[in-house]
Amino acid sequence: MLRQLGGTMASQNIESVLHEQRTFQPSAEFAAAARIGAAELAALRREAAGDHAGFWARLAREELVWKTPFTVTLDDSNAPNYSWFADGRLNVSFNCLDVHLAERGEKTAIVFEGEPGDVRRLSYRELHAEVCRLANALKAQGVGCGDRVAIYLPLVPEAVIAMHACNRIGAIHSVVFGGFSAPALKDRIEDTGAKVLITADGGWRGGQAVELKVAADKALADGCPSIERVIVLKRTGRPVLMQPGRDLWWHEAIEGHAAHCEPAWIEAEHPLFLLYTSGSTGKPKGIQHSSGGYLLGAKVTTRWVFDLHEADVFWCTADVGWVTGHSYVTYGPLALGATVLLYEGSPTFPDGGRFWKLCQDHRVSVFYTAPTAIRALMKLGEEVPGRYDLSRLRLLGSVGEPINPEAWMWYHRVIGGGRCPIVDTWWQTETGAILMSPLPGATATKPGSCTVPLPGIEADVVDESGASVSRADTGGYLVVRKPWPSMLRTLWGDNERYRAAYWSRFNGRFYVAGDSAHRDGDGYFWILGRVDDVLNVSGHRLGTMEIESALVSHPRVAEAAVVGKPHEIKGESVFAYVVCRGARPTGDTRQLVAELRDWVGQQLGAIAKPEHIRFADNLPKTRSGKIMRRLLRSIARGEDIIQDVSTLENPAILDQLRGIETPAEAEEEPGLEAGLASPAAAG
Ligand code: WT7
Repeated sequence: MLRQLGGTMASQNIESVLHEQRTFQPSAEFAAAARIGAAELAALRREAAGDHAGFWARLAREELVWKTPFTVTLDDSNAPNYSWFADGRLNVSFNCLDVHLAERGEKTAIVFEGEPGDVRRLSYRELHAEVCRLANALKAQGVGCGDRVAIYLPLVPEAVIAMHACNRIGAIHSVVFGGFSAPALKDRIEDTGAKVLITADGGWRGGQAVELKVAADKALADGCPSIERVIVLKRTGRPVLMQPGRDLWWHEAIEGHAAHCEPAWIEAEHPLFLLYTSGSTGKPKGIQHSSGGYLLGAKVTTRWVFDLHEADVFWCTADVGWVTGHSYVTYGPLALGATVLLYEGSPTFPDGGRFWKLCQDHRVSVFYTAPTAIRALMKLGEEVPGRYDLSRLRLLGSVGEPINPEAWMWYHRVIGGGRCPIVDTWWQTETGAILMSPLPGATATKPGSCTVPLPGIEADVVDESGASVSRADTGGYLVVRKPWPSMLRTLWGDNERYRAAYWSRFNGRFYVAGDSAHRDGDGYFWILGRVDDVLNVSGHRLGTMEIESALVSHPRVAEAAVVGKPHEIKGESVFAYVVCRGARPTGDTRQLVAELRDWVGQQLGAIAKPEHIRFADNLPKTRSGKIMRRLLRSIARGEDIIQDVSTLENPAILDQLRGIETPAEAEEEPGLEAGLASPAAAG
């Protein structure tokens, strides 16, 4: 599979990145004040290289408060199901909230701005009290240690409160992104077997109320037998149906509950949360994270990479529906006692200056967003950010996909005023925390490279045989050679799939990330893209398989194949080949195209809507019946077909698939709001 990439796409990427030779050294001023300077970084690397497990054990003792200290650091007897600090006990919310009460109880933990402009501030003391109240309410509703709680909320403080309330009592949260539709919510709830769903009447997005309760009701009407109780936050105040005996308002649920709640002292390996992400085949994977190891990874990487100081205001624009919002909104920064900004709405409401206005008004000093958002906002011109005072910014971050050098330079010059280092952070839902990134006070950066692995992370690039690739211009599989504390533990309910998806390629020798990468002469990593059939749309993974099944569930569709096509703003867009039941639609197919797009939107959420739909009589298949996606990819990109087509069952189909006169593609390119159609764009 890698060879495909090595063939067309990767070589182009490699060429383009090899042209990138600019290097940016950390300024002396930034380096002098940084939490980790070059000398400290070198010392951390030496320590980790000398004693991998010992390095992480020292950090775990220093960074986390343990109720029962651990005596075993890494247990690899069940590899690849590794465990860390397994006999230690702790509580995650205690480590993020209680530990700060004495020293910074009145410090602002969360500054929230809703899309309509409403602002709320919660101090660590207030946040702690709200978490305890909800934790007590959940207990009163029968939620116990190990029970699953689904969370389907807008990006409001209650989302963070709900996550911490769960972990306070040992319940396992499963946040479902508010941009997902009812069927996607239903699938995820059913896979977790959640007892309680926490949702809201709605949230504000692009000036509209997003009707979350309506979607939740639909999901529950169609299935989800495990749900006993629905707790509903009042956010928009729009009327909703409350089902007696099942639905309960949040404000009523917490009424009379105490503002203190004894934490559940759970084992370090107790699952903290499940978070679903797309794979190339089958249903979404329920990534299962631990408590102790995960929190350690989130906390130390927040300190190292974002260099947070006591006075910083940190804004990670990701929704808590994605892992970025877990690790760099709810867990890492709070464990450090930082102030975080939370913004509910669209980056372009009421106009494209909203992000920069938020940075100005809330004195944001460290800003972390996705390349897709940067590209979209870049298109609006520099006058827009130019209207705001961005002088407080001192550090910028990027995540979700490779950032193209043009966007990197714009971010650096226009948003960072040329003075802010940029940390391009590579990681995944599965890795729990950032694994590769520059440290802003210690590492020279190159636009488009996530630079080198953090201390304690042994990433490598290997060829088909598993041998390390050393030649600078050769790509390979990105792998991690040793387990690390914040790694996923398994896939919920499917350990076989966990082993197959991440470990089988090289017989358990390393964790296989599913990305291809290469290293330059300085040992810097350049991520080239995925090696599997997974698209990266607006910084988020979409499985081709999920979109195909959504399409095929439409009565007119017999067969579908989905591939990615490079897109200026989203990184990749969804390109679907569709075979209809009966005759191939010809003539004006716009209405059918619109219907199929909406259909996918309803099944999965707006982010998954195909940008292009091309109808065909058939799909190109091998004699064994496998769809030849790499061919479809080349066609979607308008490239010449250089692949071997001799194994193709029905070669005549190629001309039809290449057909240029497809009204489906007369559809206009999406505007900015479509590029940022979902909060996905922000994380
Ligand atoms: C995939 C993981 C983890 C946060 C957001 C996405 C791609 C992520 C980078 C980066 C190049 C990146 C990879 C990875 N990716 N960050 N800095 N440079 N590619 O999480 O949905 O789990 O996706 O996003 O392909 O495998 P995710």
